[in-house]
Amino acid sequence: MALIELQDVTKLYEMGDQTVRALDGISIRIEKNDYVAFIGSSGSGKSTMLNILGCLDRPTSGRYHLNEQNVENLTPNELAGIRNHEIGFIFQSFNLLPRATALYNVMQPLIYRNVGWSKRKAMAMEALRRVNLAERVNHLPNQLSGGQRQRVAIARALVTNPSILLADEPTGNLDSRTTTEIMQLFDELHREGHTLILVTHEDEIARHCKRIVEMKDGRIHRDVMTTAMTAAGNGVAAHAHVSDAEGSNAPVSNEQGSSARVSDKQVSN
Ligand SMILES: Nc1ncnc2c1ncn2[C@@H]1O[C@H](COP(=O)(O)OP(=O)(O)OP(=O)(O)O)[C@@H](O)[C@H]1O
Ligand SMILES: [Mg+2]
Repeated sequence: MALIELQDVTKLYEMGDQTVRALDGISIRIEKNDYVAFIGSSGSGKSTMLNILGCLDRPTSGRYHLNEQNVENLTPNELAGIRNHEIGFIFQSFNLLPRATALYNVMQPLIYRNVGWSKRKAMAMEALRRVNLAERVNHLPNQLSGGQRQRVAIARALVTNPSILLADEPTGNLDSRTTTEIMQLFDELHREGHTLILVTHEDEIARHCKRIVEMKDGRIHRDVMTTAMTAAGNGVAAHAHVSDAEGSNAPVSNEQGSSARVSDKQVSN
């Protein structure tokens, strides 16, 4: 079974007498070490999708299996355990504690574990080294640049050594140079075996991923496998291309058997 498997997942929000269908019958499989970008216009359901994948929210209907476990049957405590052990979150606005140092921010997720203070500190130092911030551990968030804050947030997501990293517009508040730095870090984490799932508005970010899933009106509009993450910044070259609107994600070889190019336009529509 895949690492993540959603079957006909729906998420409804009741707003007065109106029902918002944020997710509308989503079926998708995500394998271990996949590197996926969810794209699509504002309101298409990307964040709702990520929140459900990260067990921050539950589907209204449908099945979600994570690591062969049916998430539906888990108690709130078990769900919190999964979030703490398996999943790291990275948000656009970093969500750091403003009055805590970088080090303390990164130590935070370990508080919920039975880990002594000095071990926690050592683990947090290691995570901060991992994102090249060893020199800034005693800085408060407002004493760091935007890119450094996001690296603290990534270190905080990594410190528990989660298998899955979920990031909602992780570079939305960053300039292009810093964005490149953060994406290089994600590429490295992918090479190390993490499963990465990003939400992004930016084609440049999506191009780093192995797979691009485009959402539209709460459905999967397109699901494209891409080749090599392009450090050179080339267009998205695709081996396999599924363009049906039903959300199937079985890869389909292209007819010539050679790499086909998916234009930026196709990917970002
Ligand atoms: N808590 C909520 N209560 C009611 N409606 C909601 C809630 N959260 C999201 N929605 C609605 O669900 C739909 C999907 O929202 P979602 O946040 O997933 O979109 P998105 O693709 O992440 O958009 P963006 O790119 O703007 O972040 C939207 O129509 C939104 O208004
Ligand atoms: Mg969103």
